[in-house]
Amino acid sequence: MPEIGMDLNRFILEEERKFPSATGSLSIALTSLETSVKIIASHVRMAGLAEIFGKAQKTNIQGEEVQKLDEFSNNVLVRVLSDSGQFYAIASEELDDVIYPEKGKDGKYIIAFDPLDGSTNIEVNISIGTIFSIYKRSKGTDADFMCGGTNQIAAGYAMYGSSSVFVYTTGMGLNGFTLDPSSGLFLLSHPSMRIPESGKIYSFNESNYPGWDDKTKKYLDTLKSSGYTQRFIGTMVADVHRTLLKGGVFAYPSDKKSKNGKLRILYEVFPMSMIVEESGGLAVDGKGDRILDIVPTEIHQRVPVFLGSRAEIEMFLSIQ
Ligand code: AHG
Ligand code: MN
Ligand code: MN
Repeated sequence: MPEIGMDLNRFILEEERKFPSATGSLSIALTSLETSVKIIASHVRMAGLAEIFGKAQKTNIQGEEVQKLDEFSNNVLVRVLSDSGQFYAIASEELDDVIYPEKGKDGKYIIAFDPLDGSTNIEVNISIGTIFSIYKRSKGTDADFMCGGTNQIAAGYAMYGSSSVFVYTTGMGLNGFTLDPSSGLFLLSHPSMRIPESGKIYSFNESNYPGWDDKTKKYLDTLKSSGYTQRFIGTMVADVHRTLLKGGVFAYPSDKKSKNGKLRILYEVFPMSMIVEESGGLAVDGKGDRILDIVPTEIHQRVPVFLGSRAEIEMFLSIQ
């Protein structure tokens, strides 16, 4: 029987105790993320009622219509993480440029996040999420975000679904916590998550098939002729969470319209790739190169991604 008394706060502190020289800074950073996620979760629950619903009549740097919950989530994260004093710099899908919080001047870390992933699903009450990726501060400029995926020191996501879950790794295993609404605690529900070696699900937006390259088309055709079933929610967090639990492959390939695919490397693809690798899976780009080895050059850079169970990614790699 898994322990029921292990909650996220205690888990974070027990991880910190494994490092005698730890200053507690990462623990404060992670618990400020927990606080932010709890506030967002409570508002997601009310989205339909509290007039957060609907559009904020704005578009972000991605040219996407910003839904009010995107803006709200971004504001919560910026305020709570800035006030924590642990983050020297913040990059967000909803901010054109990196910001340097006044209170973060001594912060040891920098963070990139997607405050609300799956925006188009807000108004139809389908699972949405938050994704984050943490690095150590080095030069104290935007360049600190361009150090490559293997330099992430922590990555995680929250998923606001039938229940709210918080999944994260600091490189010492992948663990998931489920919010107990009555106590307000994130209780350990998915200890030491391991992705199945193989699965029977592929998760692609097949409407983009005509624009894919031949390798990708051949890969999908092989999956379909091998009896795989299709699931695609349109929220990366939900599609990746299911892939971690059930196995298979999630992909957002490049196509003729978007040469680098749609998903952003810093706050969607890098964190999810670290998470999938930590669970024993693989994450590669359209050429089959390891995602985490990429060194980005822009904050909002996009990259094609294929991630999931070893068997399904190796099948992709074997396609000529
Ligand atoms: P966001 O809402 O943060 O912009 O992310 C949406 C992303 C990702 O969550 C999802 O996998 C993908 O968009 C779905 O794109 P399509 O609707 O083009 O399939
Ligand atoms: Mn997103
Ligand atoms: Mn988003």
